[in-house]
Amino acid sequence: MNKPLVYITRKIPNEIVEPFRELFEFRMWEEAEEPVPRDRLIKEMEQADALLCLLTETIDRELLESAVNLKIVANMAVGYDNIDVNTARDKGITVTNTPDVLTNTTADLTFALLMAAARKIVEGVNFIKKDKWEHWSPFLLAGSDIHHKTIGIVGMGRIGKAVAKRAKGFDMEVLYHNRSRNLEAEQELQAIYTDFDKLLERSDFIVSLVPLTNETKHMFDRTSFQKMKSRAIFINVSRGQVVDETALYHALESNEIAAAGLDVFEKEPIRADHPLLELDNVVCLPHIGSASIETRVRMLELCLENILLLFNGEEPKTPV
Ligand code: DGY
Repeated sequence: MNKPLVYITRKIPNEIVEPFRELFEFRMWEEAEEPVPRDRLIKEMEQADALLCLLTETIDRELLESAVNLKIVANMAVGYDNIDVNTARDKGITVTNTPDVLTNTTADLTFALLMAAARKIVEGVNFIKKDKWEHWSPFLLAGSDIHHKTIGIVGMGRIGKAVAKRAKGFDMEVLYHNRSRNLEAEQELQAIYTDFDKLLERSDFIVSLVPLTNETKHMFDRTSFQKMKSRAIFINVSRGQVVDETALYHALESNEIAAAGLDVFEKEPIRADHPLLELDNVVCLPHIGSASIETRVRMLELCLENILLLFNGEEPKTPV
């Protein structure tokens, strides 16, 4: 009998697929850095039984309709706003994502970005590289304290909770806003459920961890930035489109807020001439929240485990 065909939309290390070769036939896009062109992906979908894709692929109705044999879309990300989940469901195609395995890695990066923005780490590095360091001075590159400040986490899921845990280590007060209360975060980490506007007004650090949905698109807009303290630092590690970037640029440029740390952007990848890069009070990263080697390997393995379980007639570990 023919083995099910798994199409992988990026070249990934052979060691990761090797343990699964006995049961599956694999076809991979041959580039590690470049996404598969859409027309090629649609063509591949004519035969694939399973798809392992990344957030660079748009898995929409057109693509799902070309996929006559497809049983599962295993997305190598916790977010799945790149997938038309409703159409997949209507067509009986299972969709899985990669929660849990990336929680601590993403929380580490969130905190790194927060600390870099607060303590002007990137400005400091560039200051030395540009040979501007002449003297020690009392307020040279003086940033904001992190310890004992108030952090407002918008989106208290697994990653939010892991960020709150790190914040407690810095003796911070933790406020959070979420669609529903997270009692575990309240009990274990003394996180305080707060109305969105109050959170914006009271927090020294506002951290966006909300998934992108119709409700969260541009939830950080001009009005939100106006409500923040003038010393507030805004961190986004979820999806760029939850922020109105023009409003954010204006808030940073006019010192309505103090700084921002951004791992995600409205339209990725951004180019070097992106307006936010002109500003000294912004630290930008190329969407690397979960990018540790260990975690990226685990994410790929989890995708393959989900595919394996489905073809064994079992429930995948992490269906969406
Ligand atoms: C995700 O998992 O959704 C990230 O954005 C990529 O790791």
